[in-house]
Amino acid sequence: MVDIDEQRAEELASLCACPGSIDVADAMVLDAIDIVIVSTINASIHPLVMEALRNKKHVLCEKPLGCNAAQAKAMVAAAESSGCVLKTGFNHRHHPAIKQAKALFDEGKIGELHFMRARYGHGGRHKGMRKNGVARELSGGGELLDQGVHILDLFRWFAGNFKEVFAQTSTNYWNIQVEDNAFAILKKDYLKLAPIFDFNDIKGVFADQAGWEVEQGIRHLKDGWDICSHVKML
Ligand SMILES: NC(=O)c1ccc[n+]([C@@H]2O[C@H](COP(=O)([O-])OP(=O)(O)OC[C@H]3O[C@@H](n4cnc5c(N)ncnc54)[C@H](O)[C@@H]3O)[C@@H](O)[C@H]2O)c1
Repeated sequence: MVDIDEQRAEELASLCACPGSIDVADAMVLDAIDIVIVSTINASIHPLVMEALRNKKHVLCEKPLGCNAAQAKAMVAAAESSGCVLKTGFNHRHHPAIKQAKALFDEGKIGELHFMRARYGHGGRHKGMRKNGVARELSGGGELLDQGVHILDLFRWFAGNFKEVFAQTSTNYWNIQVEDNAFAILKKDYLKLAPIFDFNDIKGVFADQAGWEVEQGIRHLKDGWDICSHVKML
């Protein structure tokens, strides 16, 4: 168990009954380690995954797979040439309802796929946004990268790759460097209607608080519906 924060390393190591360390490089070369789980802030994902692959370790990397597409592609290429397995922590695939929907779809019981729609949002976090999630140099992005990747993964899991994407990101609510809203329409040939997802990090959407926050939420929900009616016209 390695963390650059010694106290956190020790605490988690004692919970897992394993040795704790602050030295990543030392741990990465240990023969006893076959698989490395990378679950750090986004900025350190790419260097840590690359180091693990260089040392011929299989890797489970928490989402997102790096800060941007270039980093993700580099990690996939490194995994392919190392012969090691690289997986991303898309745990939503294992949610019982989604698992069952996928099984029914694969068995042909749902029938032809016409469209998919998803909305994903955080109801605000107790102490506001995660500190590491709002500075672009640490996170690489905001809500799209943090939560949107789950939706993109699920859509691609069901439907494969998409050909066209119409998307918009914006920072509407939090005073942060990255987006707290993202809306997207993804399109592929055989779908009669374009899939859509939208998600946000607006406290007011879910909070039972009166006033401005709730109105913000409603406004964004309306934005979402505006986009939906556009999809129906396609
Ligand atoms: N799949 C999911 O549903 C899900 C849910 C929550 C978080 N996550 C992902 O898990 C990761 C961690 O999230 P979190 O909320 O636990 O973050 P966190 O900030 O609470 O913890 C990150 C830890 O990484 C340590 N760290 C930072 N840089 C490091 C480095 N170079 N080497 C070793 N340790 C380092 C920090 O000291 C900290 O203890 C993120 O990638 C996040 O997106 C995934």
